[in-house]
Amino acid sequence: MKEQHLTDTFGRAHDYLRISLTEKCNLRCTYCMPAEGVQLRDKSIFMQTDEVVAIAKEFVSLGVKKIRLTGGEPLVKKGIETILDELGKLPIELSLTTNAILVDKYIDAIQNAGITSINVSLDSLQQNRNIAISRRDYHHRVLSNIQLLLNRGFTVKINVVLMRGINDDEIIDFIEWSRSEKIEIRFIEFMPFDGNNWNREKTISFDEILHIAILRYGEMNVHTIKNAKNDTTRHFSITNALGTFGIISTVTNPFCDSCNRIRLTADGKIKNCLFSNDELDLLSTYRNGESIAPLVAQSIQAKKKGLGGMKDFSQQELAQHENRSMITIGG
Ligand code: GTP
Ligand code: 5AD
Ligand code: SF4
Repeated sequence: MKEQHLTDTFGRAHDYLRISLTEKCNLRCTYCMPAEGVQLRDKSIFMQTDEVVAIAKEFVSLGVKKIRLTGGEPLVKKGIETILDELGKLPIELSLTTNAILVDKYIDAIQNAGITSINVSLDSLQQNRNIAISRRDYHHRVLSNIQLLLNRGFTVKINVVLMRGINDDEIIDFIEWSRSEKIEIRFIEFMPFDGNNWNREKTISFDEILHIAILRYGEMNVHTIKNAKNDTTRHFSITNALGTFGIISTVTNPFCDSCNRIRLTADGKIKNCLFSNDELDLLSTYRNGESIAPLVAQSIQAKKKGLGGMKDFSQQELAQHENRSMITIGG
């Protein structure tokens, strides 16, 4: 029964659910949020705290083993402490992707929920650049909250979206950070979403990143670390480093064959791929008192082989392929 619901037509079992808790964020990152912002919609169309918890429980009963809370920024969601508390009781690996601005406020709730690993978005180690990219100034607060997470023993992964001419000269600075601190730096190829002015030239590719690392440290000192199943990241370490670095290469080396992810948007739509546009309205079904299981199965059965049915992000393909802005997907 469970397999039937969560396995798609390509044999991929989907046991990792990413729940976007809100479309709101306390930052305005250029690569994530359209310049004109996101249209505010009536509160009633979004999942309320009790609905998030109840729907998450149904997914777990269908076989989901890992839940990641995303946003917008998940920690700005009203009711976040209850959500952490309730999801923390489920037999799953629970995690969070955050910009870390509110981590100090919720650190106890996060820890009490049994979360041990947190992914933090930070695109520059320079204050002025972070202000330019995120249109807000929380640089020092984010850095001190990352330190707080490390002091409390969390595994911390830093998500760096690399963009040509913006922050691509900081690859070595970030790797240096991972040499002296037990963190994982993850360089992410800039991906196309609605309103983020993507083009291929702005994307720093897997090959370029690795080349820069090898040029600096020498081939003998850049070690490949074996991937875990369903890993989106290809991991590397520098000789004698305390931490590691990795590359998430959706644009030049998509990893769709091993995909195990489904998504629930803040307005309660199930989305079978980061790039899919055939969402189903799970929240309305739930509010009608019906089982969500058939809809989950339907969504997973409809999942395309890769990239939501696109081949290579050509401008022509993107022009014909509607998707949300990243802030309303949650990554
Ligand atoms: P873990 O593997 O559990 O550490 O987390 P994660 O990498 O899945 O989550 P995170 O939210 O930190 O995402 C990091 C980057 O990977 C972001 O740019 C996401 O958009 C991207 N990403 C996450 N899930 C997927 C996915 O299913 N497909 C693709 N192509 N990219 C993804
Ligand atoms: N391309 C790649 N990664 C992105 N993220 C947000 N927008 C993009 C994009 N256009 C990342 C953020 C966050 C994660 C959830 O998704 O850095 O850490
Ligand atoms: Fe899965 Fe879609 Fe991401 Fe590919 S692009 S790994 S199919 S979510």
